[in-house]
Amino acid sequence: MAILIKHGTLITASETFKADILIEGEIIRQIGRDLTHPKADIINAEGKFILPGGVDAHVHLDLPMFDTVSSDDHYTGGKAAAFGGTTTVIDFIPQDEGTLEENIERWQAKADPKASVDFGFHMNITRFDKEVAKEIFTLPDLGITSLKVFTAYNGRLRLSDGEIFRVMRVARAAGILTMVHAENGDVIDILVDEALTAGNKDPIFHAKTRPAWGTVEASLRAAALAAQAGDAPLYLVHMNTAGEVNQLVYAREHGLKMMGEACPQYLFFTEDDLRREDGAKWVCSPPMRTERDNLRLWEGLENGTIQTMATDHCPFFYDGTTPIEYEGEKVAIPGKELGKEDFTKIPNGLPGVGDRMPILWTQGVGSSRLTPNQFVALHCTNPAKIFGLYPQKGTLVPGADADIAIWDPDKELRYGVDVARHRTDYNLYEGWQLKGIPVMVFLRGQKIVDGENWYGKPGMGRYLHCHEGEVLV
Ligand code: URP
Ligand code: ZN
Ligand code: ZN
Repeated sequence: MAILIKHGTLITASETFKADILIEGEIIRQIGRDLTHPKADIINAEGKFILPGGVDAHVHLDLPMFDTVSSDDHYTGGKAAAFGGTTTVIDFIPQDEGTLEENIERWQAKADPKASVDFGFHMNITRFDKEVAKEIFTLPDLGITSLKVFTAYNGRLRLSDGEIFRVMRVARAAGILTMVHAENGDVIDILVDEALTAGNKDPIFHAKTRPAWGTVEASLRAAALAAQAGDAPLYLVHMNTAGEVNQLVYAREHGLKMMGEACPQYLFFTEDDLRREDGAKWVCSPPMRTERDNLRLWEGLENGTIQTMATDHCPFFYDGTTPIEYEGEKVAIPGKELGKEDFTKIPNGLPGVGDRMPILWTQGVGSSRLTPNQFVALHCTNPAKIFGLYPQKGTLVPGADADIAIWDPDKELRYGVDVARHRTDYNLYEGWQLKGIPVMVFLRGQKIVDGENWYGKPGMGRYLHCHEGEVLV
């Protein structure tokens, strides 16, 4: 089966040019002018942009949290991703009981039958000992070349600084990238206790008890640990403060291989959003900060200090007692209402996987903050390179998977929960006016999105073996 996309304007991380694309089976066979093929289905993309399918390197699908679970699974999350132009997601495997391999097998058994776009895994390391150290060396053979450590969530996910140092040394030796969640867990615990004792239980106290200084300090601490671990490569997830951008610059000035990830929510919202009546919708960790932080993160994207744009997609219902209609069925999953009386019980996380590219196209490219090529680098090419999926994913070249998003740069729409396909009852960008959205999306040569129509199926997404990635500094 062949498809010929004609007359489009291709956008890669480095070039913009008019060309045709010939897809044969699952891959891009040829790119060039005036291509022909005797049997191909022809798609006329005159006036459209052709982008590689997006790679979202930070999602949490079907993740148990408190007494519930993130409301998108590997099917519904993949579907939402695809409508937003993303065809690859990288999900985090929690380290529960058993060996790392057992954890991976369990997570894969959950993801495989449901996944509707291609997916890879990062491994959380939240328990560390000699056995785990040995097991980390086996991860690359299982297709996992990145792991995440936490300096917060004491008593649940956090490792000590010494353990993080050890993990970084092992990871470096194994060709694995360490990702860090940077907050100060000790300070957070003290402030949370104090807030609850004082009866401060509204969502704003989620932000007030997780100060920006803790994030800045923990990001520098992680950089210092990576340096002492023999210059271990490091990737700072969900950057949310101006100070982290400064730490990235500082670390690189000192020769460290430290990379950073932005997420849309930290560019557009502030802790004031948590003061709203529906403030629980904005509860995620780390929390929203200030306009100054928003601006510095934008600068970091514009000047190349930050390498990737991901989402930390981890959606919950705002009101999980009231069902929504999803694919003809009523669905309700406990969500933010669990913390109606106490901010510490609000499941932390937000929807975003489908919003990322449409929102950033309008807000980034549409406002000339980002060039179209920077947009592709941040959303597609850089994450594919860093996580060892390039050039199979993240670019438009012969031999790559035919993951393609055809964008209509002139199409305008009013965005919101009805347009985004996340399985939840709200959207952070409700009512935002967008210009330029994906109108047709292919996953390995199969059309999965065409306008409003969805052709994807559970199980269609394939597990991706990540290879050792590139350090983009
Ligand atoms: O609030 C968030 N971000 N939930 C997901 C877990 C994490 O730390 O990334
Ligand atoms: Zn995190
Ligand atoms: Zn996360």
